[in-house]
Amino acid sequence: MLDPTFQRALLEALDRYPTPFYAYDWGRVRAQLARLREAFPFARFFYALKANPRLGLLRRLRALGLGAEAVSLGEVLRAYRSGFGPDQVVWNGPVKTPEALTTLKGREPLVVLDSEGDVGRVARYLPGARVLLRVNPDLPVNTHGHLATGRGESQFGVLPEAVPGLVRTIREKGLTFLGLHLHLGSALSRVEDFLEGYGVLDALYPQVGPVAVLNLGGGFGLDLPLEALQEPLKSLARLYGAQVWLEPGRYLVAEAGVLVSRVVGLKETRRRYVLLDAGMTSLIRPALYGARHPILPLYPREGREEGIFDLAGPACEAGDILAREVRLPVPQEGEALAILEAGAYGASMSLTYLDTPRPLELLWTGAGWEVLRTREPWERLLEGEEA
Ligand code: LLP
Repeated sequence: MLDPTFQRALLEALDRYPTPFYAYDWGRVRAQLARLREAFPFARFFYALKANPRLGLLRRLRALGLGAEAVSLGEVLRAYRSGFGPDQVVWNGPVKTPEALTTLKGREPLVVLDSEGDVGRVARYLPGARVLLRVNPDLPVNTHGHLATGRGESQFGVLPEAVPGLVRTIREKGLTFLGLHLHLGSALSRVEDFLEGYGVLDALYPQVGPVAVLNLGGGFGLDLPLEALQEPLKSLARLYGAQVWLEPGRYLVAEAGVLVSRVVGLKETRRRYVLLDAGMTSLIRPALYGARHPILPLYPREGREEGIFDLAGPACEAGDILAREVRLPVPQEGEALAILEAGAYGASMSLTYLDTPRPLELLWTGAGWEVLRTREPWERLLEGEEA
């Protein structure tokens, strides 16, 4: 459900801006942050900026006291650009290239070590850096396979049995060991997955603890009852004598964002289609993860017949479907609809495939629209090439 004021503002934006565009409701982001802070009043939050990395958004979240979680050199530099300092940025990921390590020397963020090799490389390039060690909990994790980073077969972190030895190595190499990191996966909606994950850390305590920090990652699905995690998290932190860090991405921004697209036409093959000016290049989640995003018509419903449609984008791929079997009042050419829950991993994963510029991004501040990022000019897609 969208806030009614935001929904009215979308109609106004449709008169002013070219489609497709992303629009975000800042009030909704703040409300989600309030829910997180209420559930985990003892935690320090690092926003996973991969979910939506617009500088205008990062600057605002920083002003509210959040840190940033980054997974590439580009993301670390982006966090710095928006004003975060090195001690407010957590740097994750299995691959930290020599280029990245060299570039960050002297201004290194808080580094999450992901393997034995990573320990050696970081100690070589960034002596004395403040580090955490990522534990791969080797759990089944209920989510789409692409998002289940905490499975034993995934490329992330270090299996529990290797953790105590590596902690010793980290200390021997002169790195500043802050504590352990755990990220189970993304879009998790079952409390049990988190409890099992915390259980793995619990079992490691006799060989590892105490530590200053337990970073328990992100992954909070939109329907996850956060309150159920409060006590378990608190007692884990108490056991280790640690401060809890969390890295939410989706939970903060997914529901705040919509992708607005215009209907170019209708057509029928063996199925009925609404043809849209946005598709997989703007929002790849349905094609990549089979994600289902609710659809909200932004045109009058009264007196309209309804139909069941697939929403197809402009790409030359049969998989370019933003939603399947949606019941809609039959739209007319030029009318618009909103694809909901698109604020996380929508714009940030958009592509320029098929020479498609990435969409405009707008923020509704409550008082008006602010352009977070202009629509990519088509000419920019040719940059660096010669005819
Ligand atoms: N921390 C780490 C180490 C992560 O890898 C991630 C997400 C997060 C935090 C934030 O997770 P969140 O709270 O947003 O679930 N592109 C996918 C999601 C990939 C998530 C990757 N890592 C999607 O569109 O669903």
